[in-house]
Amino acid sequence: MTSRLDGRDAHLWQFETTCIGVEPLLGLLTDDEQARAERFRRAEDRARFVIGRAMLRQLLGRYLDRAPGDIHLHTTDGGKPVLPDMPQLSFSVSHSGGHVVLALSRAGSVGIDVERVRDVADLDSMIGRCFSTRERALIDASAGNERLLAFFRAWTRKEAFLKMLGTGLVDALDQIDCSPCADRTLQVSGPQGCARLAWHEYQPSLDHIAALVCENPDIRVSLHRPGWFVPLL
Ligand SMILES: CC(C)(COP(=O)(O)OP(=O)(O)OC[C@H]1O[C@@H](n2cnc3c(N)ncnc32)[C@H](O)[C@@H]1OP(=O)(O)O)[C@@H](O)C(=O)NCCC(=O)NCCS
Repeated sequence: MTSRLDGRDAHLWQFETTCIGVEPLLGLLTDDEQARAERFRRAEDRARFVIGRAMLRQLLGRYLDRAPGDIHLHTTDGGKPVLPDMPQLSFSVSHSGGHVVLALSRAGSVGIDVERVRDVADLDSMIGRCFSTRERALIDASAGNERLLAFFRAWTRKEAFLKMLGTGLVDALDQIDCSPCADRTLQVSGPQGCARLAWHEYQPSLDHIAALVCENPDIRVSLHRPGWFVPLL
């Protein structure tokens, strides 16, 4: 595995949950995390959580040259896991369907979101509630399955942005506009002001879409899986 994370780098790691045995990973989790794992009702939710935490601890351990058990995670009031003794190392975790994705960077705060592209029963009301006028226009420019994909692209952009901020659930999502620009940046505007952020999206598999947002627009992103990596242009 690549364990150097230079100044401008964001490393995006992808794991397929069906290829990973969960039980051997439990020993990498703290007692609290193991207790949380036991509370999941559905085996697939438990698996995604255990794999996410175990891989996060292993990766942080490699980048920081520490044992996974020596990684002391803290959860902010907004719900974001952070490393209090290493605040310059930002990371974000997301899971959906058969994928767990993680992003790590020393170049500013990062947020990542992955979603399985699936039917949404109340799609139109979700679009009305969650998106700005501009975001809605972008979704409505497509029809049928393309519209569903446009919805999840917009969703992952906004969710990754919110996870970058770490504030947790937000009431007036339609007041926040996350508009993609041609140069792979995201122009964000809302009640808190405006910002231009780095934005990269990719498809972990045909029916999944993932977005990474970073506060540093000059970030250099590469995609890693156990055994290989490629730069994302
Ligand atoms: C919890 C939330 C951060 C994401 O939830 P989600 O999409 O169900 O789940 P994901 O798999 O993408 O992300 C979960 C991970 O995000 C991290 N996380 C949790 N709260 C977070 C926060 N406030 N900020 C950043 N990261 C957070 C955790 O690592 C968590 O994984 P863990 O529970 O295994 O430790 C939160 O934003 C949420 O519930 N959103 C609901 C959906 C929504 O309103 N989206 C708006 C987009 S239009």
